[in-house]
Amino acid sequence: MRPKVLVTGGTGYIGSHTILDLLENGCDAVCIDSCINSDTSCLKAIKELTGTEIPFYKADLCDLKATEQVFRDHPDIAGIIHFAALKAVGESVEKPLLYFRNNLESLINILDLSLRYGVKAFIFSSSCTVYGDVTHSPVDENTPWQEAASPYGRTKQIGEQIITDTLRHTDMKSILLRYFNPAGAHPSGKMGESPINPPQNLVPVITETAIGKRKSMTVFGTDYPTRDGSCIRDYIHVCDLAHAHTLALKYIFEGRQDEQTGIFNLGIGNGLTVLEIIEAFQRVTGVSLSYILGDRRPGDVMAIYSDHTKAGRLLGWEPKMTIDDIVSTAWTWEKNRSAAGKS
Ligand code: NAD
Ligand code: WQD
Repeated sequence: MRPKVLVTGGTGYIGSHTILDLLENGCDAVCIDSCINSDTSCLKAIKELTGTEIPFYKADLCDLKATEQVFRDHPDIAGIIHFAALKAVGESVEKPLLYFRNNLESLINILDLSLRYGVKAFIFSSSCTVYGDVTHSPVDENTPWQEAASPYGRTKQIGEQIITDTLRHTDMKSILLRYFNPAGAHPSGKMGESPINPPQNLVPVITETAIGKRKSMTVFGTDYPTRDGSCIRDYIHVCDLAHAHTLALKYIFEGRQDEQTGIFNLGIGNGLTVLEIIEAFQRVTGVSLSYILGDRRPGDVMAIYSDHTKAGRLLGWEPKMTIDDIVSTAWTWEKNRSAAGKS
């Protein structure tokens, strides 16, 4: 029997790719999203790619009653993947209460309902941001946390603690997945990042600049003590990331997880500089990018990349996509979006 998985934030960037991966790997999916940072166009793409129309609820997880309706309609939900959250670091500094309320109240509500309705597996979207300003990479799951650099980062640290404390004396198991820098789009060109708020992350900024939505872009800092002076990050293709969620659920469903709460880093395990990403984009697409070398962005960590050995060993997860795959799929998606008249 195909286990039924409730995906919160499922019309968002990583959630939509994960729904596709679940459907392709023997699970059924139900989606809930308030569409505060997405629209429902991915549901059409999912139907085109899989032939499946999944049940969708447009609701805010902070609304307990509306969220409970999903559980009433689907009492057979076996697992939850909880993506729903606001994620703009800068906005979280300006509006911390918006982030604490949205990201934590929604988490508390979905945990409460999961326990009341007997769900057995809970996967949480965490982030490498929990590690803060690290001094050494690669970081593994035991690397101690530093002070969170933003209220957004704090919601991930607190979120992890809420889950760990809540599940301690229950029979629900959870996995906290700490993503590094998700990027790229589905190779079909039908699905990718389609946010309502203007993206701030490097790869969409590059593609938006290349297509002409932005006149130019800035490399934030070229005086770091790295091989070319720009920051180092661990870029992971969104499809590889999505597949890790399916594997994490199966790890719990198949009774292979001993710990109440497991923690896994998800990155490629290799650091690339901002200038190397720009070089890869220009080389792979043949498009020349307008960019300037600018000042450091406040709050940026000089270098961070993952040790994902644990996910390989226990989940059997191995990222397959390269940086060339990331920039080429992101570029195809940007061109398709623009051709469809999307901003
Ligand atoms: P996204 O904004 O594309 O998706 C999040 C979705 O959640 C959106 O569709 C939004 O409308 C929805 N949402 C937000 N608050 C909600 C609420 N209260 N009720 C219902 N729906 C709500 O972002 P994403 O990049 O897909 O990120 C998914 C998760 O992964 C988030 O928790 C994010 O913090 C985490 N994460 C993202 C990154 C990244 O760089 N993209 C890195 C690490 C962790
Ligand atoms: C990557 C590199 C920038 C834009 C953020 C969150 C983190 C996690 C992932 C959610 C940095 C440089 C960027 C630009 C640039 N998200 N850059 N010009 O900051 O590593 O991580 O997303 O959990 O919490 O903080 O990602 O894509 O913003 O930046 O030079 O216009 O690209 O300085 O070195 P970051 P990013």
